[in-house]
Amino acid sequence: MEKNLQAIVDHTETILSSISTRPEWEQSKASILGPNGSLTQVAKGIGSLSKEERPVFGQSLNQAKRQIESLFQSTLTKIDQHADLASLGKKFDHTLPASPNHIGGTHPLTNVRRKVVSIFRKIGFTVAEATEVETEWYCFDALNTPQDHPARDAQDTLFFPETSVWSNVSKKSKEKNILRTHTSSVQIRTLLKEPPPLRIIAPGRCFRRDTVDATHSANFHQTEGLYVDKNVNVRDLKGVLDFFLRELFGEKLETRLRPSFFPFTEPSYEVDLKAPNLGKLSDRWIEIMGCGMVDPEVLKLVELCPDKWSGFAFGIGLERISMILHGIDDIRHFYQNDQRFLSQFSKAL
Ligand code: PHE
Repeated sequence: MEKNLQAIVDHTETILSSISTRPEWEQSKASILGPNGSLTQVAKGIGSLSKEERPVFGQSLNQAKRQIESLFQSTLTKIDQHADLASLGKKFDHTLPASPNHIGGTHPLTNVRRKVVSIFRKIGFTVAEATEVETEWYCFDALNTPQDHPARDAQDTLFFPETSVWSNVSKKSKEKNILRTHTSSVQIRTLLKEPPPLRIIAPGRCFRRDTVDATHSANFHQTEGLYVDKNVNVRDLKGVLDFFLRELFGEKLETRLRPSFFPFTEPSYEVDLKAPNLGKLSDRWIEIMGCGMVDPEVLKLVELCPDKWSGFAFGIGLERISMILHGIDDIRHFYQNDQRFLSQFSKAL
């Protein structure tokens, strides 16, 4: 009987060395320690022993049982540890390079806007804002562009249904709501709110019914500028724009004012620039922005006396600045959110 006990202990060791799952373990345990298990069977033999033999056998039985139980316990611990590790996935390879740390950056148009604002801030301009939803009167009529004016065609836009309500967009009378086609409407909203003298820039998003291609986008950004004071003349306009453009494109910049037309400025100009450091665009005249002296009609429409007040205004496209500065050849890049494009400019300007 003693021999049998030792054989069961040895057998336990053998089977435990080959099992690796909990069900296998349960099964093996039942086959030895369970009600019909081999140890239980041997223990039953105690009844056939003499009174003297029983305590001796009993001691051996208890010892074998403890040994077997401890073997089962340590195997269970091992099985559980393996299961834990398996649930953690594959082993971590310390020799692999770390995954790149992607730090977010600002959008190239944000960079340009900030730069433009910081330049004008140096010469006393403050930022004015208005809504992207406008009314026909603020976007056109007040800018001396009545309903039948051909200049409206160039700025075709999206009209809202007459039932739409924009409680934060005040109307002159019952005109329709539209998406603003330029930031020039901020000139009007500011002039009606603040008495001159004033110097503001107004960066913001604009919309036109344009067919999208490499140089057109139905959604784009401008920065408006407005200076109204006494005795403002074209020389002031040229001086301010020259300072701004040199800060932006470098000292070796040449500029020229080319006569143009805008209904809300008289005279009106396009500003051209030429610089040696603009890659493919170096050393040739490039059109950069529109500007002019505030038309007396506009001053009258906002109830300022043109004999007392005068001013200049300008409007510049932010995409255009960024495209010239960085040699970007397609305006659509700004709106496609392609990391390969955006990451190149996150720290630029
Ligand atoms: N609003 C004009 C445009 O979008 C630009 C401009 C602004 C021209 C101010 C003159 C003065 O084309």
